[in-house]
Amino acid sequence: MRKVKLVRAAAFVLVLSAAALVRHNWVLQTFYNEHMRPDADGDDGAQCKLPDYDPLDASIRDYVVRPWPKIDCASTQLPLTYLDERKRLVVNRTAAQKYWGQLECTVQDVRRPPGDDDHVIIGPKKVITGEEGLQSEFCIVQCVELPTRRVVYETGYAQVVDVPAQQAKRSREAAKEGRLNVIVLALESMSRLNFMRQLPLSHEYITNELQGVVMKGLTKVGDNTYANMVPFLSGLAAGYAEMSPRFGDGNTPAGYSDELPATWRDFSAAGHVTMFAEDDAAITIFNYMAKGFKEPPTHYYMRPFWLAMDQQAHWAWDSRCYGHIPKFRFLFDYMERFLGKMHAENRAHFSFTFLSHLSHEAINPIQVIDSDLKGLLQRLKGSGVLDNSLLLVMGDHGNRFDSIRNTVIGRIEERMPYLAVVVPPALDHFRPSLKANAEVLTSWHDGYETVMDVAMLNLGPKSKKLRYGHKGLSLFRPIPADRSCFDIGIPSVYCVCWKEQELPTEVAAGLAARLLEHLNAFIHATDPEGRCAALLLDAVTDAQKLLPATGVAHYRDFAVHFRVTVRVRPSGALLEGTLRQDAWSPPQVVGDVNRINRYRTWW
Ligand SMILES: *[C@@H]1O[C@H](CO)[C@@H](O)[C@H](O)[C@H]1NC(C)=O
Repeated sequence: MRKVKLVRAAAFVLVLSAAALVRHNWVLQTFYNEHMRPDADGDDGAQCKLPDYDPLDASIRDYVVRPWPKIDCASTQLPLTYLDERKRLVVNRTAAQKYWGQLECTVQDVRRPPGDDDHVIIGPKKVITGEEGLQSEFCIVQCVELPTRRVVYETGYAQVVDVPAQQAKRSREAAKEGRLNVIVLALESMSRLNFMRQLPLSHEYITNELQGVVMKGLTKVGDNTYANMVPFLSGLAAGYAEMSPRFGDGNTPAGYSDELPATWRDFSAAGHVTMFAEDDAAITIFNYMAKGFKEPPTHYYMRPFWLAMDQQAHWAWDSRCYGHIPKFRFLFDYMERFLGKMHAENRAHFSFTFLSHLSHEAINPIQVIDSDLKGLLQRLKGSGVLDNSLLLVMGDHGNRFDSIRNTVIGRIEERMPYLAVVVPPALDHFRPSLKANAEVLTSWHDGYETVMDVAMLNLGPKSKKLRYGHKGLSLFRPIPADRSCFDIGIPSVYCVCWKEQELPTEVAAGLAARLLEHLNAFIHATDPEGRCAALLLDAVTDAQKLLPATGVAHYRDFAVHFRVTVRVRPSGALLEGTLRQDAWSPPQVVGDVNRINRYRTWW
């Protein structure tokens, strides 16, 4: 009797749980079917369908301003000093005669204090006699008119000094072994589309003359420069689980970044001479809201130069100048001198050059350097340094603040940075894969793997290793086309694979209300005393439903996303949020909510 009862009970439980399972699956399936109706437009949607827009599409043409005012530094001051062929700092006596009084020109060494990335030590003033060669790496120069001592001239020199002793022999050996160099030139906030429209000469030169392959599916993995360049440089995802908290909250590093396992370390360990240069000292990748590096991260590190230049007065109408020289020139020249020296001395090298101040705020100003950039690339090609170097010309993400950001194309390109891969003849066998991968969804994690292949001499047709980091695959070998945003670290907020449907006003209003609730809860939590005003909805400016491609969607873990953009009072901010809804829960805000208009007016 007992046995029968037990069996009956067991059967009952089984039936119940089977029923629960059936119901569970039914709920999931219903939710899935409700949103994923078969495509009406005949698109099979099996894979990520990459957005493909014309850089000069009619819908955004009004945002593109041409021509942009050329950089004019010549009117700032007469060029009074120069370095002669023996690297002696000389006052140009002919130019000096233009002054009524007598001139006194002085030079000051710039040094980096130990363990401090935010200050510089500026040495005592030495009067320039023209007799001594310029010894120090960085120096600043000033000329005053006598007897008034009125400052009439200010500039600086960034020299590429001799290779540090510990790397001098090794870098020659590494080159002799045939190790390839890596040259990275990055432009802040530069999308693929904006590079094509603002820098057409350079783009044309890269793709035609240098045979560079431009990645059409490259998507950002985080909001700002830091969140994208950390994965590119280290394979770690900023702010995610594999990253230790000491590297910050995702968008900014916490303190010092010395322990970041950046590829420059791998290259240095393999004997390469390394260089890292960024222009805009206030907002550099590892210093913005953080402390940078205790010790210089690379053998050549340009930051002290920019800090010192920022301390000079630099009277100029044009904020793009230091004295009579455009700021970008100091960066490009330093990079070129570094590469020239390494090439002439037969050394293996790695360099990461990042230009920020011309493209951080708006999409148009960068166009003024198109021919300079092309010229730089032409000279690099002519020098022969590209014959044994991998060259990456890239952005980090697209523009985040300019008014184009409020258009459909602007939103897409904010997520899709430029990346041109130029391979030397020794890597020609990777060209077919590179070209195929240009059409596939990729992220900075793939960029990291590609650079690591060079660092680790993993350059055969078959990879020695699946990956060096956490998520990516090298661009050198075929990448499966069925990868999803999630697979390669692209948060759903920045995913571009969605099929989008415009939402009816009532649905949009409900989602906007949820977004506001979320934001006000956040404001209240960070400001319990209530000093900040609660946000009020002014208008819903945009709302879409975002559906994954059928190839990567599955009913078991299916979720639908919504993107809503609202304008709020009293700040006038445009805020773009993403909400996620699955079979079990109502829409909830996920990931970053982005402010997509500027906090202040710049231009
Ligand atoms: C010195 O200044 C004169 C007059 O400004 C200029 O023509 C000349 O090119 C300068 N020389 C050098 C070496 O810079």
